[in-house]
Amino acid sequence: MFLQLERLTKSYSQRTVVDEVTLDIGAGEFVCLLGPSGCGKTTTLRMIGGFVTPDSGRVLIEGADMSRTPANVRPTSTVFQSYALFPHMNAIRNVAYGLRTQRVPRAQAEERAREMLAMVGLDARAGARVETLSGGEQQRLALARSLVVNPKVLLLDEPLSNLDAKLRERMRREIRIIQSRLGITTVHVTHDQEEALGIADRVVVMNEGRIEQVGTPREVYEQPATRFVASFIGRGSFIIDHDGAESFVRPEHVTLGRAGGGIAGTVSHVQFSGPVVTYFVDTAAGTLQCDVPLELDAAHEPGDPVVCQLRSRARLAS
Ligand SMILES: Nc1ncnc2c1ncn2[C@@H]1O[C@H](COP(=O)(O)OP(=O)(O)O)[C@@H](O)[C@H]1O
Ligand SMILES: [Mg+2]
Repeated sequence: MFLQLERLTKSYSQRTVVDEVTLDIGAGEFVCLLGPSGCGKTTTLRMIGGFVTPDSGRVLIEGADMSRTPANVRPTSTVFQSYALFPHMNAIRNVAYGLRTQRVPRAQAEERAREMLAMVGLDARAGARVETLSGGEQQRLALARSLVVNPKVLLLDEPLSNLDAKLRERMRREIRIIQSRLGITTVHVTHDQEEALGIADRVVVMNEGRIEQVGTPREVYEQPATRFVASFIGRGSFIIDHDGAESFVRPEHVTLGRAGGGIAGTVSHVQFSGPVVTYFVDTAAGTLQCDVPLELDAAHEPGDPVVCQLRSRARLAS
């Protein structure tokens, strides 16, 4: 394994905010730490980068124990949520800075910096001062500055949270393209489940300092292991099976009919959202949400008796 977290633990004033986090990440893999605000994502990332010292546990990169290695000599590079750019320097100086601290001669450092600016699509802005750059440009600049030192591991802390929704989606694609081209092992922190599912090879769902589930975006979406994962990612309904166990059903996995086999219920609410119509159906097993594609909609109304067929469900561990 390229990057290994072994039982990483951190407490602040006797409150454990990261609790025995263990994770193996392969070379070139793009992993997202996903979870609500305060669940310990940033603290975990900072322990990987060397900005926070774990109380116990280890960080290994290519098998070498980095736990006591200072941040500035770890083969990791972090894009902070705030970007932490140097406002008084122009774009190219910001990117070249990391190389200059490694005593790379100025001309050579600026040439490498120029290549990195080209990679993130900022070559035309090389001479621009940071404060004249847009939010999206600053984000690209922060990425270029992190990549120029040729790190083995790229750490991204909510890098898209300051951008508007459209730009966020575009940058999500661009980050993934650049990451794939460089083949750099990446740990990306976000509280945005859509972002995590859309960008990651694997998603690590965290809650209260602990890992709830690790899986591909499809796995955590289709087979959530716990009640927390099911409710944190996407939409759906919790129902009680005939044997008393709790199941979770995605709205797109329910088919609505007027009669036939399935779970009988009554439409309690209808919600139109463009491509789908969402029905809320009260049944003996619980209320089921059901998404019907607009072109298949039979226009049921509140009070109508319907039958729900479940095409798939997830059994929850807890
Ligand atoms: N330096 C610190 N001192 C005290 N508490 C901290 C410190 N850093 C983080 N915390 C607390 O640890 C918890 C986890 O924080 P953090 O890792 O930043 O969460 P996330 O990035 O998932 O939002 C939060 O409750 C936060 O307030
Ligand atoms: Mg954070």
